[in-house]
Amino acid sequence: MYEILLREDLVPNIHLFKVAAPAVAKKAQPGQFAVIRLDEKGERIPLTIADWDREEGSVTIVFMEVGTTTRRLALLKAGDYITNFVGPLGLPSHIEKFGTVVCVGGCYGIASMMPIARAMREAGNKVISVIEARSKSLLFWEERLRSVSDQLISTTGDGSYAAKGWISDRLEEIVAGGNKVDLVVAIGCTYMMMLCAEMTRPFGIKTIVHLNPIMVDGTGMCGCCQVSVGGVTRFACVDGPEFDGHQVDWDLLLARQGIYLDDEIRSLQVWECQNWHSS
Ligand SMILES: Cc1cc2nc3c(=O)[nH]c(=O)nc-3n(C[C@H](O)[C@H](O)[C@H](O)COP(=O)(O)OP(=O)(O)OC[C@H]3O[C@@H](n4cnc5c(N)ncnc54)[C@H](O)[C@@H]3O)c2cc1C
Ligand code: FES
Repeated sequence: MYEILLREDLVPNIHLFKVAAPAVAKKAQPGQFAVIRLDEKGERIPLTIADWDREEGSVTIVFMEVGTTTRRLALLKAGDYITNFVGPLGLPSHIEKFGTVVCVGGCYGIASMMPIARAMREAGNKVISVIEARSKSLLFWEERLRSVSDQLISTTGDGSYAAKGWISDRLEEIVAGGNKVDLVVAIGCTYMMMLCAEMTRPFGIKTIVHLNPIMVDGTGMCGCCQVSVGGVTRFACVDGPEFDGHQVDWDLLLARQGIYLDDEIRSLQVWECQNWHSS
């Protein structure tokens, strides 16, 4: 059992848990994830390791409420326990001195990007971080990201704070503004990552994306997280989650992510109904 040491509500639908998981904390590297299971009957979901403290033996995860499991997770508080917390899984991010690295993060990806931006800066890169949210009230960790970046650019879809627009708009401004960009790293929703990859493609700027297909075991056994990269089938959990965004078959990924949509909606409705009756 893994105790939740700290809970913070970063924005209304995105929450942070610091979890006591010494074995995971000991080996965690930027870009890796954990697979968690709330209880004996819960489904397994992958969540990126947003930070760790090896001395304390703790790991930080940041999750967005989107369906049944993340809604259930959001009901927990400090002092509660998570039944399974397996990790670190996936290959660590490839960190080296590239030159100028633009780190982009949207939704939960703002937090997932944190250890990567930090490591990129420690490796001697100039780091420009770009973060997006639909609206000001959904933006978080600006100061935290700023502290590991040479420049931080925020953007909101509705223009309620900073520039109006999306990450791909800001990326275009950076590139069109004559800045030499050597690498773009993107984490967040699939559509945002796809737009970033399409934006940089004509400029030939290498763009690394952190793919988030549906996963079950997270160890390469179930085949659920299949993605096609450069025409080759890869398993995101063991071959990724980092891939070359210009090689990803985005249509296939988006289609596979929607396979269980009806079941996911039904599952949430059933849970909400049961929860409403028992409350
Ligand atoms: C390697 C990896 C790392 C991830 N890291 C994080 C993280 O740090 N924080 C975080 O909030 N989420 C993260 N995700 C996504 C997270 O795993 C899903 O949001 C979660 O499994 C949804 O479970 P659910 O039961 O709440 O919702 P479900 O009922 O399973 O899904 C509800 C809705 O969310 C969408 N969805 C389901 N799975 C995903 C997915 N993998 N990516 C995007 N949308 C999805 C569905 O299409 C559906 O619309 C990560 C996914 C992967 C593969
Ligand atoms: S999650 Fe099962 S093979 Fe990747």
